Amino acid sequence: MQRIRQICVIGGSGFVGSAIVQKLSTAGYDVKVITRRRESSKHLILLPNVQVVECDIFNDTALAGHLHGQDAVINLVGILHESGDASFEALHVELPRRVADICCKQGVSRLLHMGALKADANARSAYLRSKAAGEEAVLKRANELQVTVFRPSVIFGRGDHFLSLFASVVKVLPVIGVAKPNARFQPIWVEDVAQVFVSALENVSTYGRSIDLGGPQVYTLKQLIEFVAFILGKKRRIVGLNDKLSYYQAYALELMPFKLMTRDNLFSMEVDSVCNCPIAEFFGHPLTTLEAVAPEYLAGDTPRSAYDRFRSLAGRSFSKR
Ligand SMILES: NC(=O)c1ccc[n+]([C@@H]2O[C@H](COP(=O)([O-])OP(=O)(O)OC[C@H]3O[C@@H](n4cnc5c(N)ncnc54)[C@H](OP(=O)(O)O)[C@@H]3O)[C@@H](O)[C@H]2O)c1
Repeated sequence: MQRIRQICVIGGSGFVGSAIVQKLSTAGYDVKVITRRRESSKHLILLPNVQVVECDIFNDTALAGHLHGQDAVINLVGILHESGDASFEALHVELPRRVADICCKQGVSRLLHMGALKADANARSAYLRSKAAGEEAVLKRANELQVTVFRPSVIFGRGDHFLSLFASVVKVLPVIGVAKPNARFQPIWVEDVAQVFVSALENVSTYGRSIDLGGPQVYTLKQLIEFVAFILGKKRRIVGLNDKLSYYQAYALELMPFKLMTRDNLFSMEVDSVCNCPIAEFFGHPLTTLEAVAPEYLAGDTPRSAYDRFRSLAGRSFSKR
């Protein structure tokens, strides 16, 4: 097996990418992060052995130039909502197919690809269908490439797009209508996901596989929002919506300029995002729980503020709600 030294991370400036790049840097790999805007990757530029380059990833020649000479590629590019040229087809299907193709042509032997839990060619959600097609496109090259696809449930951590979004809603609304309140998730900590990627890089047993990733506990969507309200010390009325109201709410939110939710997100919640995660292969320690880290980044929690929150919810203080 060829020793991996140089790794190119496509989509490495984002929430998950930043955690992976930091761990790769700490582990001593030479990392090249490909981004559309170097400006948005300032937090990575100062890391040891990390180079951030701008590239039009839709230009095969430019992308091939950057992948040439790399030992491994990690592709993390993904979106939750389509807009303009940024379509599920272009980013989740065509890009992975092209990346796998360029890896084969440029002699890059290792490819880690980010999929999504419950991605399925027959899913009602276009997001999940496109993730399934991208996964299939890269696994098709498993004879020529050492490919691994990771399929996580929702990922939490500082800067996440999930609990932080709930937190911003909880902060302003006294009553919250929750679409698909019983949809189930198995949130996994971004640092654990990053550790899995780094551990898998040179782990032969992961070649040619799709690996589901989920955290230590399963929660319904309503439970997660209640948890966020509790962390923030806010007394909120959290009401589960029936299917019809969930649909109308998603439709209305879809029309807003800033997309909180779309009907496609709703369709993706029709399947529970839970799994049997074979995480023991990658970890000698238990996975991190939501309760252990979310209070710190959602509420800037310290032991003192946690104590104040409990008092406040018990009606024993005048702290602001
Ligand atoms: N976060 C989760 O809960 C979760 C759960 C399951 C799966 N995933 C998957 O994990 C991957 C990373 O997610 P994330 O949460 O880290 O997302 P993120 O913070 O939004 O980062 C996504 C990355 O994709 C790139 N990207 C986005 N739109 C692009 C476009 N139109 N053209 C080119 N590049 C584009 C961005 O690169 P630049 O801006 O640097 O160009 C960005 O670094 C995605 O594939 C996502 O589907 C995430």
